[in-house]
Amino acid sequence: MENNRLKDAYIKLLRDHLTDIHNAGKWELTPYAPGQGVFYKRWGINFLVNQLAKRKFKIISDNAATAKDLENQSNGIGWPLNGYTMIGTKRMDNIRHCVEDVLANDVPGDFIETGVWRGGACIFMRGILMANGAEDRNVWLADSFQGLPKPSEEEYPEDAGDDLYTVEQLRVSKEDVARNFERFNLLDDRVKFLKGWFKDTLPTAPIEKLALARLDGDMYESTMDGLKSLYPKLSLGGYMIIDDYGAIPACAKAVNDYRKENGITEEIKEIDWSGRFWKREK
Ligand SMILES: C[S@@+](CC[C@H](N)C(=O)[O-])C[C@H]1O[C@@H](n2cnc3c(N)ncnc32)[C@H](O)[C@@H]1O
Repeated sequence: MENNRLKDAYIKLLRDHLTDIHNAGKWELTPYAPGQGVFYKRWGINFLVNQLAKRKFKIISDNAATAKDLENQSNGIGWPLNGYTMIGTKRMDNIRHCVEDVLANDVPGDFIETGVWRGGACIFMRGILMANGAEDRNVWLADSFQGLPKPSEEEYPEDAGDDLYTVEQLRVSKEDVARNFERFNLLDDRVKFLKGWFKDTLPTAPIEKLALARLDGDMYESTMDGLKSLYPKLSLGGYMIIDDYGAIPACAKAVNDYRKENGITEEIKEIDWSGRFWKREK
């Protein structure tokens, strides 16, 4: 097989494995499970699911994938039982598009995701770099590795009532994420971990330049912390990707506020019902 076809086949296989698309019917009961979010919040289900999760038990939908499951999975709806990322294939394809565009145009800088969960989107970035023989860029993973912060309601009223910090399934340790990279033979010294709350790690992170920043911290505070520290380091021609713009109004507000305060006018493009991105031009 000629090289380009082999590369394409590897990247598609990696994407499908990381999203666990073939098991799209198997998802966990979480606040974002298809059609189950409202149910989840009632009758102490959240408490029950968290207690089970602490003991390593899960409530799962164990179906063979239907066309609807596949559609949900491609849109990142529902958290895959054994997948390494929850963002779905459309947002994964957007990562590939952005990575290959910055490589083709020699846009300088590293890549970062703020909010990595099991690490699948960053494993994908590292895999695409490897497949393209681009071994000179770092992939940074910023996360608390212990879930979301409690909302700071006085400083960020937009996050008032956000209870994602209580969700046990969102706590994934750094060791587990590193092991996930190892499973794909993609853990090396180009993979850099920034462990801690974004407000503490991002302002002093030893990153010189970025060609791609992917923000997936869900909340106003987490999104704003990412924009404030990382946008000034984003190269012209580089990409800013926002995972939760369509799904979480507080995240969209942080993006709109930051863009307005900083005179950013590049068009925001739609990836799917939630993901958005733009290319920095000035
Ligand atoms: C929705 S998950 C990310 C999903 C992931 N990008 C994927 O591909 O599946 C959100 C992640 O953001 C992290 N997070 C959110 N806000 C944070 C903050 N302020 N500081 C550190 N970590 C944060 C959580 O620990 C969690 O791992």
